[in-house]
Amino acid sequence: MEDVTTANVPPALSTPAPPMSLLAELTHRCPLQCPYCSNPLGLEPKAGELSTDEWRRVLDEAAALGVLQVHFSGGEPMARKDLPDLVRHAVRKGLYTNLITSGVLMDQTALDQLAAAGLDHVQLSFQDVDEAGAGRIGGMNGAQAKKIEAARLVVAEGMPLTLNFVVHRLNVARIPQMFTLAEELGARRVEIAHTQYYGWGLKNRSALLPTRAQLEQSERDVAAARERFGTRMAIDFVTPDYYADEPKPCMGGWGQRFVNITPSGRVLPCHAAETIPGVEFPSVRKASLSGIWNESDIFAMFRGTDWMPEPCRSCDRKEIDWGGCRCQALALTGRADAADPVCRRSEDRATVDVALAEASVGAEDFVYRRYMRQP
Ligand code: FES
Repeated sequence: MEDVTTANVPPALSTPAPPMSLLAELTHRCPLQCPYCSNPLGLEPKAGELSTDEWRRVLDEAAALGVLQVHFSGGEPMARKDLPDLVRHAVRKGLYTNLITSGVLMDQTALDQLAAAGLDHVQLSFQDVDEAGAGRIGGMNGAQAKKIEAARLVVAEGMPLTLNFVVHRLNVARIPQMFTLAEELGARRVEIAHTQYYGWGLKNRSALLPTRAQLEQSERDVAAARERFGTRMAIDFVTPDYYADEPKPCMGGWGQRFVNITPSGRVLPCHAAETIPGVEFPSVRKASLSGIWNESDIFAMFRGTDWMPEPCRSCDRKEIDWGGCRCQALALTGRADAADPVCRRSEDRATVDVALAEASVGAEDFVYRRYMRQP
């Protein structure tokens, strides 16, 4: 039967609004081994990566589609020698360019090339405030010193710098020192992001999930920093949603604002979407980005509210949280179309509460993310 809600609507009016941001995962290669990495458990080999020309075409298509910002990410995007070329191409297309990097491959020459290409912003990840803590997570000797040097180079270049600290039960107590380090380094923005539990983070959840007391202390530490820095430093705070009663609007709503392209060109609504079974993931090698965004099954699957089960369907927050996170629903319930179990109204909330109970005990050992040594 014909869908009466769209039968008389011209095609142009039923086309979804374009994504605001493109996350370009240039490579999964990375010298670090963080056990909460947002990359999938099955890392993509170098041989399958999109070429420079393929990425240029993707950037052309993104700009034509209406994307405003491109975030060059990885793995470690600086492992790609053509990064300055890609930045230059994106800038020419009018895209705002952000480099999400660990900083361990940054030196003056590399930064000069990126600055000359017109890079707008650098987001530098830190694993902790000192070498010991950083080494425990990243698994690379000397990484902290390289990151600090990278931050100094970026600030000396006059480029805006954001520091990103992923926090978890082993480093969450050092949030005040994280702000002190950010101030010393001249960062304009700091992101304190509690680990999110998909992929590697989910695999290491019992070693990473903070206790409720730790979470509450982190909230007080961030509030104190906001008081202290005022408008001198922008501060973003991402909480571990397991402790929340209502889910987060993951990705700003599935297929609404964000598009992710993997190193080999698969196009995803979020970095964890490949965990969803029984779906064919479209590739920029076979279809245009606009065709994928507007017409592919994977983007249409959870876009809007029509797909929602109860209790989401009749919830007055359904256009605020968009049903929460599909990948979390899948990871915790086995069903990607279930209500996000973080929600107190979800029939599966017990799966989250069990994890919280485990967090009060905690585990000691990590499964590290090792490139080319996949689980
Ligand atoms: Fe995929 Fe949240 S990470 S929807």
